[in-house]
Amino acid sequence: MSAVVVVGTQWGDEGKGKVIDFLAREADMVVRHQGGNNAGHTVVVGEEEYKLHLIPSGILYGDKLCVIAAGVVVDPRVLFEEIDYLERRGIKTDRLRISSQAHLIMPYHARMDALSEDRLGVHKLGTTLRGIGPAYMDKAARVGLRVGDLLQPEFFAVRLKRVLDEKNRLFARAYDAEGFDFDEVLQTYLAYGEQMRPYVANTSVVINQAIDEGERVLFEGAQGTMLDIDHGTFPFVTSSHPVAGGACIGAGVGPTKIDQVYGVVKAYTSRVGDGPFPTELLNSVGSDIRDRGHEYGTTTGRPRRIGWLDSVVLRQAARVNGLTGIAVTRLDVLDGLAELKIAVAYRYRGEIIHEFPDSAEMLDLVEPEYETLPGWTQSINQARRLEDLPKEARAYLDRISELTGTSLVLVSVGRERTNTIPLKELY
Ligand code: GDP
Ligand code: IMO
Ligand code: MG
Repeated sequence: MSAVVVVGTQWGDEGKGKVIDFLAREADMVVRHQGGNNAGHTVVVGEEEYKLHLIPSGILYGDKLCVIAAGVVVDPRVLFEEIDYLERRGIKTDRLRISSQAHLIMPYHARMDALSEDRLGVHKLGTTLRGIGPAYMDKAARVGLRVGDLLQPEFFAVRLKRVLDEKNRLFARAYDAEGFDFDEVLQTYLAYGEQMRPYVANTSVVINQAIDEGERVLFEGAQGTMLDIDHGTFPFVTSSHPVAGGACIGAGVGPTKIDQVYGVVKAYTSRVGDGPFPTELLNSVGSDIRDRGHEYGTTTGRPRRIGWLDSVVLRQAARVNGLTGIAVTRLDVLDGLAELKIAVAYRYRGEIIHEFPDSAEMLDLVEPEYETLPGWTQSINQARRLEDLPKEARAYLDRISELTGTSLVLVSVGRERTNTIPLKELY
């Protein structure tokens, strides 16, 4: 039995797609269990670059069963665009399964996302505007529509009518905005339902069966620990559970079935969207790292905010995820920097704190306490073993491992599959 959860330890975009792709080579199944098309996972295979938002990255191999589990919110338009995008590039998608329990992103969710961000003005969250928050709101309010509902057209029509009437009233009265035409939404979604039918399954059964039969199942986290609705920088978070426990809830798998939890750590920090970011670099060092790392959002194209590595964040991630190992990515982006800093603690009103603050207000006021390490001058892109790395790079990695209390399992030194240094048996 081998079930491995891969999570982001920071604010997303740590390189989960790359790490999953590397691990997926030896997996039988790859599962997305939370989030939706707010995610953007990039995988580079030789000359080819793939950007995936909804479909698990394992799809690129052709022989892995890929599952979109119950905890994901699915925008069918995006799903079929992604299926087309992959098929056009010669990637088969017949091994995709979608949970009948996954909630649907409806057109009114994206509109509500935009309207509420607009109304928040300077206090906006900087969402991806994909309707993620409003879709999870409807799920929690028990008025969401699910993939399985689409397969029962009469039932779907009745529920949609009730929900849409309410949404249209809300758009008109609270936002002075236009609503949606019932027949149009109904026809569009029923057509999606017919297209989706061959993929729909009871995915909790599918996943548990695979684990029980000793297959290797990989859980592909989206977003990152700091964007978790409970354990992140609330309210500047997403509306799902990117932490490892989210894999159990979202996939319908018990915690006793999980063997390993790997945290993906970008060798520095980035954040796209608003909210506190203690180690943010608002100077030329930050813009230099952004340029050399091409740090622009995979989903929205927004420039990512850049900062030094923050071990207070990583310790929070190690704790709330129960990490059994860390995979450090993008180490090569730091090539040529004279020195590197790591936040080891925060200073809050003159006092040193070592644990991640539990309030956004406090996080806004902390000053990082840095430790400085020497950088390296050579390019590390071609390193294939730890010994190929300059001693300064190895010292930086050792310090990350020490500060997080978690052992290194993999180091990534470039975008391609081959630019990877595995450090142990990963399953
Ligand atoms: P994800 O959302 O966590 O999957 O990360 P994204 O795909 O949004 O962003 C990570 C970016 O870093 C992608 O463009 C990857 O191709 C790239 N990447 C991943 N690992 C490395 C690495 O070790 N070095 C470099 N230079 N780029 C990397
Ligand atoms: P991957 O999987 C980085 C951020 C948004 C915003 C906040 C809420 O590629 O790492 P949402 O649209 O989810 O309601 O936006 O979360 N965000 C991400 N940031 N990577 C992601 O996914 C993200 N998904 C959401 O920028 O700050
Ligand atoms: Mg991303």
